[in-house]
Amino acid sequence: MDTFVIEGGRRLSGRVRVYGSKNAALPLTAAALLTDQPVTLRDVPDLADLRNMYRLLAELGCVRTSEPPAEQPGVLRLHTQSTSNSHARYDLVKTMRASICTLGPMLAKRGFARVSMPGGCSIGDRPVDLHLRGLAALGAEITLTAGDITAKAPQGGLRGATIFLGGASGSTVLGTANVMSAATLARGVTIIESAACEPEIVDLANMLNAMGARIRGQGSPRLIIEGVKELHGVEHTVIPDRIEAGTFILAAAITNGDLILDNCPMDALLAVVDKLAAMGVRIATVPSAPGVPPAIDPMRASVRVTCDRVLKPVEVTTQPHPGFPTDIQAQLMATLTLADGNSVITERIFPERFLHVAELSRMGAKIYRQGPTVIISGVKRLIGAPVMASDLRASACLVLAGMAAEGTTVIHRVYHLDRGYERMEDRLNSVGAVIKRVDDKDLPPDSRIAEG
Ligand code: EPU
Repeated sequence: MDTFVIEGGRRLSGRVRVYGSKNAALPLTAAALLTDQPVTLRDVPDLADLRNMYRLLAELGCVRTSEPPAEQPGVLRLHTQSTSNSHARYDLVKTMRASICTLGPMLAKRGFARVSMPGGCSIGDRPVDLHLRGLAALGAEITLTAGDITAKAPQGGLRGATIFLGGASGSTVLGTANVMSAATLARGVTIIESAACEPEIVDLANMLNAMGARIRGQGSPRLIIEGVKELHGVEHTVIPDRIEAGTFILAAAITNGDLILDNCPMDALLAVVDKLAAMGVRIATVPSAPGVPPAIDPMRASVRVTCDRVLKPVEVTTQPHPGFPTDIQAQLMATLTLADGNSVITERIFPERFLHVAELSRMGAKIYRQGPTVIISGVKRLIGAPVMASDLRASACLVLAGMAAEGTTVIHRVYHLDRGYERMEDRLNSVGAVIKRVDDKDLPPDSRIAEG
């Protein structure tokens, strides 16, 4: 298994480009099931989660029609060529929860879908009741058989409805993607109230509209979808990844660095920028190249990140967009371990998403957890240690902590990181980090972590 060995204490300095968004690309690829025509996506990151999605889509008859040409990395062409298999099997779904995004598109286009029920994961319970409630409101008959969700459209197809999609923690991102995608081909008008406002949903709605759908209200909690008979092919560029951008910004902050990010979706990061400003981290728009005026597209800006030598503590609560994203909570926590004072983080989306707390404590962080709230009492320094990655964002948090720590940090199980960050170590090394990827069998025994 791959492991990172990080030599800490280096300031990051230089320029990196933010890649296309994983969480936008996953439902966009599933939307290729809604049409018989080819769907071409640009700026698709090369990630384990997406490779799993292509495998699943291929089983469902939607194949990758060409490898991206070398001169065009990130280009993906998908084309549904057969509808004979509509069963997303457990052994593919269990590797990636986002497989649930195939449910709505298949149901709408084929009138039938069978998708294995995704289990929980290391960040907590991940129910899909809201997805199912929304699809049932469109007329689908939903049953659960042998761990699989089976959804059948009524005769004549799905029909528009008014649906409230809010749950105890707000709306649901992939649930909104599923119900909105299905409603594009329903008869009549669908209103989704308490829809997710995340930029990834806006990106999906924009692509569906470019395929012939009629969706209004994307980015707000009320979506209005007028059903159409069919959708056609499309070429679409995936939005840049706001979580990757936030991770790089915090990488600059925790190493007291000076980093320029290109293709940065500033417009999707306002809550993050606001908290970071309070911590003493400055993010300013700059030209994308010498002599070029700053980009006017706030979703694809070039920004320079600089910060005060000593960061200030803050209080943060994670919330659905436009609030502070849960997917940046762990990376923020790593950074706050070195702030001058006590910070408070409350996790409102996934109240158990704190597996990184114990690992940060191994590196000398002072963190006290009480239910969904964590108090971080800033320390003067972190000390490198062997630690274990437990999920995607917890891994990113440990990479940040490792880069700021004194000495060597060994992060086990970085396959979690590879699910969501493309060539993370190469890109961080290009701006001054010292991170080596090694096989854990090649590590000295005292750096290994016992399984079990
Ligand atoms: N929820 C329900 N019922 C449902 C669905 C969700 O109660 O049917 C609850 C969840 O338990 C949670 C809250 O609603 O408390 C929000 O969950 P949501 O459905 O929005 O999460 P998701 O759509 O499954 C996406 C991202 C996650 C990100 C969350 C929240 C993708 C592929 N995943 O998951 O990303 O944390 O939204 O923003 O888009 C990550 O990238 O590391 C990641 C976990």
